[in-house]
Amino acid sequence: MPTAAEHYNRLLADVYSWMYGGWDAALARYTEFFDSRGIAPNGGKRAIDLGAGCGFQAIPLARRGFSVTAIDLDCKLLAELEQHKGGEEIETVCADILSFRSHAPKTAELIVCMVDTLLHLDSQAAVTRLVDDVFAALEPGGTFIATFRDFTVETNELDRFIPVRSDDRTIFTCFLEFEPDTVKVHDLVYRRVDGRWDFAKSFYRKLRLPTAWVVTTLRDAGFGNVETGLDRG
Ligand SMILES: C[S@@+](CC[C@H](N)C(=O)[O-])C[C@H]1O[C@@H](n2cnc3c(N)ncnc32)[C@H](O)[C@@H]1O
Repeated sequence: MPTAAEHYNRLLADVYSWMYGGWDAALARYTEFFDSRGIAPNGGKRAIDLGAGCGFQAIPLARRGFSVTAIDLDCKLLAELEQHKGGEEIETVCADILSFRSHAPKTAELIVCMVDTLLHLDSQAAVTRLVDDVFAALEPGGTFIATFRDFTVETNELDRFIPVRSDDRTIFTCFLEFEPDTVKVHDLVYRRVDGRWDFAKSFYRKLRLPTAWVVTTLRDAGFGNVETGLDRG
């Protein structure tokens, strides 16, 4: 079974920023996300982005004045982040987020883990371990932001086929196969190359984490003030 790292390396990293609608749209979206929540440095200024990808959260955070450590297993996506970061204070680290403390040993005032990254871990036990480490790595009064899709409600039959994005050069469709604790995500990409269509396919698994379970896990780790909300991220 391909791991998340293999899936990104084989297929997803190459179309990731295009899938999002491009850089300007993605950066605007997360700039607005942090603006609307009043996220700004007011402590030691250090932020850690767990599963930073190509930097759609790290770059807006750095522009707001944070000094960001951006950690991801996919070195291609981190290279894109490096190309787009300009003069912003962002250190990229190609590593497993489960070992983030050895790469960012100082406490941080903000830790983010956004857009399904939590679901890429291979078990609820791994999520619990990460949340415990996040709590220990935060300054007193620090903030952790996690966004993920709650896949506990199954979609059925043809609703499992999702047209992700298409244009005249690329067509990306996703198919979801629900399993008891995970959802198997099949990504299918056609790309126009030299007048013909190249086809790439790959799958990986995401955890089906109930929101209520994540809230309990955060509280058990020591987070006193847990807020939940709905967002497209
Ligand atoms: C859905 S993407 C989100 C990326 C970024 N936060 C964004 O919103 O564009 C999930 C990211 O987590 C990374 N990832 C998954 N499992 C990881 C792990 N165990 N350690 C480090 N990165 C991981 C993937 O390489 C991918 O870049």
